[in-house]
Amino acid sequence: MPPTTPPPHAVLTEIERRHARPVWPPRLDRIAYGGDYNPEQWPEDVWDEDVRLMREAGVNLVSVGVFSWALLEPAEGEYDLAWMGRVLQRLHDAGILVDLATPTASPPVWLTRAYPRSRPVTREGHVLGFGARQAFCPSSPEYRQAAARIVERLATTFGDHPALVLWHVHNEYGGKVPACYCDVSAEAFRRWLEERYGDVATLNDAWGTTFWGQRYRVWDEIEPPRLAPAPVNPAQQLDFMRFSSDEHLACFRLERDILHQLTPHVPVTTNFMATSCKDVDYWRWAGEVDVISNDHYLEAERPDNHVGLAMAADLTRSLAAGQPWLLMEHSTGAVNWQPRNVAKAPGEMRRNSLTHVARGADGVLFFQWRASRFGAEKFHSAMLPHGGTATRTWRDVTQLGADLAALQEVRGSRVRADVAVVWDWPSWWALELEWRPSCDLSYLDRVGAFYEALWRAHLGVDFVAPDADLQGYPLVVVPSLYLTTAAAASNLHAYVAAGGHLLVSFFSGIVDEHDTIHPGAHPGALRDLLGLTVEEFHPLRQGETVGVGGGLRGSVWSEAVVPDGAEVVLSYDDGPDAGEPAVTRHRRGRGLAWYVSTRLDPPGLAGVLDAVLDEAGVERPAAGLPAHVEVVRRVWDGASYLFVINHGGAAVAVPATGTDLLTGARLDGQASVPAAGVVVVREEPQ
Ligand code: GLA
Repeated sequence: MPPTTPPPHAVLTEIERRHARPVWPPRLDRIAYGGDYNPEQWPEDVWDEDVRLMREAGVNLVSVGVFSWALLEPAEGEYDLAWMGRVLQRLHDAGILVDLATPTASPPVWLTRAYPRSRPVTREGHVLGFGARQAFCPSSPEYRQAAARIVERLATTFGDHPALVLWHVHNEYGGKVPACYCDVSAEAFRRWLEERYGDVATLNDAWGTTFWGQRYRVWDEIEPPRLAPAPVNPAQQLDFMRFSSDEHLACFRLERDILHQLTPHVPVTTNFMATSCKDVDYWRWAGEVDVISNDHYLEAERPDNHVGLAMAADLTRSLAAGQPWLLMEHSTGAVNWQPRNVAKAPGEMRRNSLTHVARGADGVLFFQWRASRFGAEKFHSAMLPHGGTATRTWRDVTQLGADLAALQEVRGSRVRADVAVVWDWPSWWALELEWRPSCDLSYLDRVGAFYEALWRAHLGVDFVAPDADLQGYPLVVVPSLYLTTAAAASNLHAYVAAGGHLLVSFFSGIVDEHDTIHPGAHPGALRDLLGLTVEEFHPLRQGETVGVGGGLRGSVWSEAVVPDGAEVVLSYDDGPDAGEPAVTRHRRGRGLAWYVSTRLDPPGLAGVLDAVLDEAGVERPAAGLPAHVEVVRRVWDGASYLFVINHGGAAVAVPATGTDLLTGARLDGQASVPAAGVVVVREEPQ
């Protein structure tokens, strides 16, 4: 049964404590609703119809001009902003607010022609051509100067436009060209390394360049990790990933600072791709934007893809430090870029949208408003499909507009998590470099498995950086934190010593930030905390499984765990470590550190998690509900909103007392959630 009040251990973020309930975006009295609007693809008479239909659908915010640089600045220094002015005016007249994009993700052909060195170069040395988007090198001074000029021009022209409420800087940094390997980037990389290491000797030390005789004498000898005859030095690769993420961040800062200076009254965002972007370290970006926004697309073919959606939403909220965020893009139906672009089933788009809201979004936007007739994305769904308004999509879009209007009081309320899961981009990068003990090691596989087990237990998850403040969480899960810095290790130690419960999965605590093995036996950074050593890794053959604890199965990994203070909870039944520990726990200070040394199958993981949750005192008040029923609460200052999302094919009854905000119905003790449906209840204390 879901509780009527938040569980006592629910975490109140620092931000919640400090701030009054903020509502976002400013000047909007409802949850934001809309999408990417690309009027430049249509004649002006269509714009009138667009605006009329937007009003009909309840649209109140659109992102404009994301890829329109070539139209706004047809030749270098020649601007044509009048058409954009007409677009903004039409939207304003209709009461629709604007999230105005800087078009710098799509440099025009004149820039590529005039400054050929601004083109991106791949690791293989291929110069990428013009004809798509994102064809720029983030380190190129010519690109940056041109970007700064168009941003300045947009801000001075439209900064005071009454429709403008948000700047949408660029689009999905790092999405298509995560890193550039050109000579300009090489030079910038050297300066970045100089800043980080001070002198070449320190770099040689950090990178372990005595291996394969890579020792450098001067900065100029260092290159990006271009295609080489064998795996390039992993420390060099990691630093290049850090550098590339930072170069994109520098491009963002350049634009943001211009906008802040010229239009201090307009907040700035850029759209993240939380769980799907490996290449950008969003923890380093989160504090740089005024509003966190995210793009999310389902893995269309996966039947349980709503779990991945929930995970992306939770990571986005965590990047926002618990504050409301904006779903900048998702799709009404099929996308066009997956191998098989399965369309959404009836009700699925509504469930998707309301799940994002349940998990903290105060706005729901789509890519895109009107389906394109030409170009690479003409088979991508839209709010207004090729078939126009006589379609299920359009009916669903207008229904969603009405639903979101009915949920307006939810804005600004917060989601409280029951447990934390550590998420770390550098560890993801390092774990998946070449020549690891097994090609089956996957960061997302481990994080996803633990997240899914928690999701099925109806528990709320905050994601945290490894060095974040963990106090207040009764349980912290650490999935495959292969790269564990000294700061992260001491943070985890301190958390457990103070009474925290930690659950660590295999291949964690192995290397430092340079991919150098921590001294001594594995797992060097966490050995004392876990009370064990790992004498040898025993990766399993493809498809091979091992028995654990007389009934559970593990795959991918087994290892020789030697307890040194830890108590054995489960042992291997067979396989390379038959009879030896598989799952352990170690009392340390006032807390407990658990260790799982294999990739347990879902029932096994759920069983172990159950024991860990019990020990940590995490209540599971919704435990009786079927796993496919998603239960999330948003709360603020005595108000509590219960979202129940039913992913199953039959109606389900859930205890609830209050008002169903989507229908206005009174609920006295029970809500019936239709098959594939959603109920949102303003709860009353019982
Ligand atoms: C990304 C981009 C959009 C569009 C969509 C299609 O998220 O930001 O411009 O290409 O993908 O799904």
